[in-house]
Amino acid sequence: MTRLLTLALYALTLAPSVIAAPQLAARASTSLDAWLATETTVSLNGILANIGSSGKYAANAKPGIVIASPSTNNPDYYYTWTRDAALTLKALVDLFRNGQLDLQTVIMQFVNSQAQLQTVSNPSGSLSGGGLGEPKFYVDYTPYTGAWGRPQRDGPALRATTLIDFGNWLIDNGYSSYATNNVWPVVRNDLSYVTQYWNQTGFANPWTDLWEEVNGSSFFTIAAQYRALIEGSTFAKRVGASCAWCDSQAPQLLCFLQRFWAGSYIMANFGGGRSGKDANTVLASIHTFDPAAGCDDTTFQPCSPRALANHKVYTDAFRSIYTINSGVAQGQAVAVGRYPEDSYYNGNPWFLTTMAAAEQLYDAVYQWQKLGSLSVTDVSLAFFKDIYSSAAVGTYASSSATFTAIVNAVKTYADGYMSVAQAHAMTNGSMAEQFSRADGTQLSARDLTWSYAALLTANMRRNSVMPASWGEAAASSVPSVCSATSATGTYSTATNTVWPSTLTSGTPTSVAVTFNLIATTVYGENVFLAGSISQLGSWDTSKAVALSADKYTSSNHLWYATVSLPAGTTFQYKYIRKESDGSVVWESDPNRSYTVAAACGVVTGTEGDTWR
Ligand SMILES: *[C@@H]1O[C@H](CO)[C@@H](O)[C@H](O)[C@H]1NC(C)=O
Ligand SMILES: *[C@@H]1O[C@H](CO)[C@@H](O)[C@H](O)[C@H]1NC(C)=O
Ligand SMILES: *[C@@H]1O[C@H](CO)[C@@H](O)[C@H](O)[C@H]1NC(C)=O
Ligand SMILES: *[C@@H]1O[C@H](CO)[C@@H](O)[C@H](O)[C@H]1NC(C)=O
Repeated sequence: MTRLLTLALYALTLAPSVIAAPQLAARASTSLDAWLATETTVSLNGILANIGSSGKYAANAKPGIVIASPSTNNPDYYYTWTRDAALTLKALVDLFRNGQLDLQTVIMQFVNSQAQLQTVSNPSGSLSGGGLGEPKFYVDYTPYTGAWGRPQRDGPALRATTLIDFGNWLIDNGYSSYATNNVWPVVRNDLSYVTQYWNQTGFANPWTDLWEEVNGSSFFTIAAQYRALIEGSTFAKRVGASCAWCDSQAPQLLCFLQRFWAGSYIMANFGGGRSGKDANTVLASIHTFDPAAGCDDTTFQPCSPRALANHKVYTDAFRSIYTINSGVAQGQAVAVGRYPEDSYYNGNPWFLTTMAAAEQLYDAVYQWQKLGSLSVTDVSLAFFKDIYSSAAVGTYASSSATFTAIVNAVKTYADGYMSVAQAHAMTNGSMAEQFSRADGTQLSARDLTWSYAALLTANMRRNSVMPASWGEAAASSVPSVCSATSATGTYSTATNTVWPSTLTSGTPTSVAVTFNLIATTVYGENVFLAGSISQLGSWDTSKAVALSADKYTSSNHLWYATVSLPAGTTFQYKYIRKESDGSVVWESDPNRSYTVAAACGVVTGTEGDTWR
């Protein structure tokens, strides 16, 4: 969100506004766990405060309209950006799917607001004439007609992803007609925009870069667009429609996406005269993360060798340029910003980019545990060596001591990035857009909505609460020949904005169940949950769910995991230990049994056990 078009405009925004507030007070005494426990509430409240019209900072905004920040000058972010709003609502839909059903109203209002915004003719065009690429609007639906970097092509794709996520929930919970009549028409417009313009060149060459600065193709945009087309096609079928234009274009986006791999990192943009080392790439990896995927390089999954190599190159780019990172050893987390050449507010670390660096690693840990192994390749070796000096090329089964050691090192490294955010948040939890590279003081827009969304998604992944799959596993093969193409879909005004008030009575199809186990373990020993259902590995110990020991203390030997399980299912389970030599120790008989709640409104569960 640089929000600048020309150097002249930039000069006007240069004077940094320092937010006067309590900083860094006695922060070291609060553990990351304890901070996150309160910061998740601050973040959710911070987001809701920035959504119209009931949010306390967004009273002038239409219902469902997300302001980027309450800041109205230096900088003025009192607008709604399609990108920021879509990413924020994606976090809310993630929470909603995992049981936070009181978010229903704001999500429905968001759908309505986007249907309305799509109809607003603006400097990028009309609904069917390119207008969906307009990056920002006033909060009362009027178009912003001043000079700006436009169009930006990622917004429609990100919005489609968010709406599809909610639409799938509606279908899964018996509300298919609303998915068909209210959600799909909005999604269809966005998918049509993507397929028509993704490869556009010439006069209207897009300012596709998410930071609104580079006139050229952007990795983040193409990755987000690809994902939207894949899940868009599946969603179309679920509502009894089809998206031939998605199907024809999607392989070509994946083909083009490969071009951004620069050998040791992902080149964020073509054009712009920069190194291309940019948070754009890490954000792309986390926002196209599919928990059902392997460590695929073609889609740059968080655990893929390419994405890990890129994580290192991107984060290393900030180690020496920020004063606040001085003295931090290689392999330990640092504050990271958008890109090293950044000069907006003199170029600083951002909360959302620093937490994205953590989120990618939490995603990777989940993928390795699910796959039951972890591979170190020539491409990713340098990443691993930083955090585990004896790392060597090879594949390590989850039963091996090396796997355990590396996964623990990655988790610690990831937590380090969250701790950097913690150290620079205000004592009351507020997070602005940036914090000073020189002294960590918060800078630029206060209470940035996206900062809060970034905290919520990183925290969910840290707790193994995963987003829905988008179908990556069946969509990771790259065509042998890339071509410059386009396809025209269908545009229509989406007018159905009537919703049932009883949506909350829908029975959840999955329930987040937390298993708390008291087990005294020794170093190198890890605890897993094995059981009779596929989510617990169907008794296969290599597919059992890892419990976390990050709340384990000398007085409380707690291991825990939160697992998303099908509502109403009864299953058997046992805890197992994996020893550092790889051997497995089962609990004594009998098998334990658990029934997942199916009652209306009950959407989480907790089970407390003690090792037998
Ligand atoms: C369009 O796609 C072709 C084939 O992948 C690629 O070479 C070209 O750079 C793309 N142009 C834009 C603007 O995306
Ligand atoms: C963006 O770049 C293209 C060619 O690379 C050029 O034709 C176009 O005018 C540029 N757009 C702007 C707004 O500078
Ligand atoms: C924290 O304090 C700042 C400045 O005093 C204020 O602007 C902000 O709204 C506060 N945040 C919360 C979450 O209370
Ligand atoms: C526990 O479940 C497994 C797998 O179904 C079964 O083989 C075993 O006999 C069960 N144990 C007991 C004590 O019932």
